[in-house]
Amino acid sequence: MSSHIPYPSSKPLNPDELIQQCANYHAFLEKRRSLRFFSDHPVPREAVEQLIMAASSAPSGANKQPWTFCAVGSLELKKQIREAAEEEEYRSYHGRMSKEWLRDLAPFDTDWRKPFLETAPWLIIVFRRIYEFGEEGKKENNYYVNESVGLACGFLLTALHQAGLVALTHTPSPMDFLTKLLGRPANEKPFLLIPIGYPAPDATVPDIQRKPAERVIAWYE
Ligand SMILES: Cc1cc2nc3c(=O)[nH]c(=O)nc-3n(C[C@H](O)[C@H](O)[C@H](O)COP(=O)(O)O)c2cc1C
Repeated sequence: MSSHIPYPSSKPLNPDELIQQCANYHAFLEKRRSLRFFSDHPVPREAVEQLIMAASSAPSGANKQPWTFCAVGSLELKKQIREAAEEEEYRSYHGRMSKEWLRDLAPFDTDWRKPFLETAPWLIIVFRRIYEFGEEGKKENNYYVNESVGLACGFLLTALHQAGLVALTHTPSPMDFLTKLLGRPANEKPFLLIPIGYPAPDATVPDIQRKPAERVIAWYE
């Protein structure tokens, strides 16, 4: 049996105020960028915990919260992760990625080298929990795991942006090396590797454009 609790009601804003508030938040989020040049300026563990718990407040299928966020601050572990990621990325850039993929990546000037995996003060490695171990080790289902974990990562990125921090959603695939290096159990699969921290003083970002409203919204009024 579930019990319900009251939800604090909110008074509707007048339409102009509402539009302005939405526009302000849109403008704020437009400033978020993926960073590939990090400073080594420290970020306190307590801040990382708050950011992860903000991410963990995301909605999830049947409230299963099918995620584990590994927060890696250890220099030795970051070095091992960088070496393993660069090995996979070297193979990807030298044969595994299609010509079309490499062409699509050209504007980003990326290659197999990932120094930011050591420079950034923290690496948050997100694992999706494809099932749970219930009582007596019995497997229990999670639902809509990819959708749920994707949402939690979105919450994390906006929380980081709000705190003036930056991140990269990185996918040095295949990412099984993360399972091994972090000793994660069989029910967890790597989802994203997210270095977080402050931007390097001379950091740059690719000059990319976002699609305009008419290309991302289909109205049915
Ligand atoms: C699922 C996902 C995987 C990504 N993987 C990589 C990656 O491995 N390396 C990288 O440099 N950028 C990666 N990116 C970052 C994208 O290139 C970036 O989000 C996109 O170019 C838009 O730029 P912005 O985030 O600055 O708006 C990834 C983004 C997403 C959402």
